[in-house]
Formats: sequence, structure tokens, C-alpha cells
Amino acid sequence: MTIGGAGTGDGDGAGDGGEGLKALLPQEAAQRVQSLRLVEGTATLVLDASGLPPAGRAAMEAGVRTALQGAPGVVQVRVAMMADKALDTGAPKGPRIVAVGSGKGGVGKSTLAANLAVALARAGRRVGLVDADIHGPSQARLLGTEGRRATAHEGKLVPVESRWGVPALSMAHFSQTGQAIAWRGPKISGALLQLVDAHWDGAEVLVVDLPPGTGDVQLTMLQRCPPAGAVIVSTPQDLALLDAARAVELFAQSKVPVIGLVENMAGYVCPHCGERSDPFGAGGAEAAARDMGLPFLGRIPLDIAIRREGDAGTPTAAGDGPQAAAFAELARQVGRWLDEHP
Ligand SMILES: Nc1ncnc2c1ncn2[C@@H]1O[C@H](COP(=O)(O)OP(=O)(O)OP(=O)(O)O)[C@@H](O)[C@H]1O
Ligand SMILES: [Mg+2]
Repeated sequence: MTIGGAGTGDGDGAGDGGEGLKALLPQEAAQRVQSLRLVEGTATLVLDASGLPPAGRAAMEAGVRTALQGAPGVVQVRVAMMADKALDTGAPKGPRIVAVGSGKGGVGKSTLAANLAVALARAGRRVGLVDADIHGPSQARLLGTEGRRATAHEGKLVPVESRWGVPALSMAHFSQTGQAIAWRGPKISGALLQLVDAHWDGAEVLVVDLPPGTGDVQLTMLQRCPPAGAVIVSTPQDLALLDAARAVELFAQSKVPVIGLVENMAGYVCPHCGERSDPFGAGGAEAAARDMGLPFLGRIPLDIAIRREGDAGTPTAAGDGPQAAAFAELARQVGRWLDEHP
């Protein structure tokens, strides 16, 4: 499932059937539509639920589902209700969330999230890490907490401490390594909320490593525990940048500020001579950020050491090489943004 015209290649979602569907909605719901897209059979609606009591929200959602189910081209309906944070009594309270997302898989979100969290901790911030990739968790490996199990206290999860000053929660702390977790819809949302609403005692920031794309986890986050801001990761290739634009659009639609765009795997550092080259092109993400009016947070090179250290559970940001400095600079910018947006 993708929001924002994925599959059509036009990027702006025009002509994707959203307008036609809007006419089918009950009037009150139609007036509250923030976005409505039909992509590959999935109609995705974001509704402004400000001021509605829980029963009113449920009734509106039910009305929308009834109106759209069976409409031409609609196989599945997804509804996200956005509300004023102050009114959203269902939202867990706690640290401020910085979501790390991308449109495309494999661009290095998890690596970046782990290193950002470690760099923030090194800079003196109290930070926790949530691995929101329910199906494909990677933070236990990246932080070297594989094989450890999360516990619970008074009905809430207790994060697993790592050696890097960053406690974390990941589905990997509940299941055998490599065991597939074939959860869908509500179960995914439930799992995510438990990871977020845990004993993050004293943490001021929760870095949340999102799965790729714009699916259930993203919608649950935006609805139930809206991030203070989002960091978007992209590689320099055009296609990854196009997907990054979709991720940006998802956050923008939900009024989650985008802190900025990071270019990962920017330039290749030769492990033998240290020389840098640019197999995927250079500067694409910075130009894309400029085009989208977003801050550019910097570039992290493609360096075999980052992969090796990630696999070994010793995050690069905890070391003192040039790549650790790149992560420290990223953390400085994210930290400054948080300070400027209390
Ligand atoms: N800057 C980098 N230099 C070298 N290798 C990197 C870099 N960033 C990420 N990698 C490697 O690329 C692979 C994918 O990274 P990662 O798992 O962080 O991506 P992801 O975006 O979280 O993927 P997914 O979408 O599957 O969650 C990993 O093997 C990781 O070690
Ligand atoms: Mg990942």
C-alpha cells in the first residue's frame, strides 16, 4: 500500500480516482477529508477528526467504510483519523518521537536510526529506540542486543538496555531470530503502540525506525502517536528520491514536520585506499531537498565499515572515525531542531 500516486509514476496522485470517491462519502466525512487516494485497489483516506468524541470518530469511520466498500476499483479501505494532539486522548504520552522513514526499502533507515540514536546519546540526550519494523526487525542486531528478551512491569514493556546508552524495543526482543512474524492490521498497530508506550523513563527523544513505505505502521503512528518530526532517508538515485518524496508527502499530509532529508550511501569509500567515488551519482538528495523546500541534513557515505559494524552490533556512531563524525553532525542538527521546536 502506498500513498501518493505510487504505481502511476506521476507523484502527485492526480487522476487516481480520489475525487470520484469523495463524492460517495457522507457529507460530514467529505468535509473532513485531508487526503483521499486510490492506488492499486486500496483507498486511503486521512480525515481530520478534530473535536470529535471517540464515538463520533468510530461512527464516521464506519460510515466511510460502508460508503467506499464496493465502489468501483476499491478492494480495500484504509482510514486514518487525525486529531489535535491535545484532544487525542487515545495517544500514549511520553517522550517526543523522531520517526526515521523512507519511501523505499533498503536505503539504510535502520542503520541510520541506530546511529542517530547512539549519536544523540553521545551528545548527552536521553534517548530510546523503537524498532517499528514489526515484520523485519533489525535493531537488536544493530545495537548488539540479539538474544536478549524484553520484560514487562505493571502492564508495560521494559526496554532492553544496550551498551551504547540507548535502551531499545524491537520485535526481535520477543521472537527467535529469523522467525517470521506474519501479523496484519490491528495486531501490528497493537504491537507498535506497546513498543512506544513502554517504560521509557526519563527519555526525551524516541527514535522510531519505520519499515519501508507507507503502510499500517505508518498510519498507526500518525494516528495514535504522532511524531514531533520525521527524518527522511534516501540514497542518491532518482528512483529512491521519488519514493522519498512520497514519504515526505505522507508526513506533510498528516502535519508532521519533516526535520530534513539525509542522503545515505552517498559516494563509495574504498576500504583499501580510502578514496571516495560516486557510483550512484552525487548531490541528488540535496537538490531534491531544495526542490521540496526541506532542510538537507547531510550525507553518509557508502562505507563497508558501516555495514560491518552494523552487523557486529557495534554502531559506527559509537566509534571515532570520520563516519562517526558524520552521524554526530546529523544528531547535532536533529537535536537543534528539537530544541527549536519545543
Ligand atoms: N552508509 C552505508 N554504508 C554501507 N552499508 C550501509 C550503509 N547504510 C546501510 N548499509 C547497509 O545496507 C543494508 C540495508 O541497510 P538497512 O537495513 O539499514 O536499510 P533499511 O532502509 O532499514 O532497510 P529495510 O527497508 O529493509 O528496513 C544493510 O546491510 C546495511 O548494513
Ligand atoms: Mg530497516
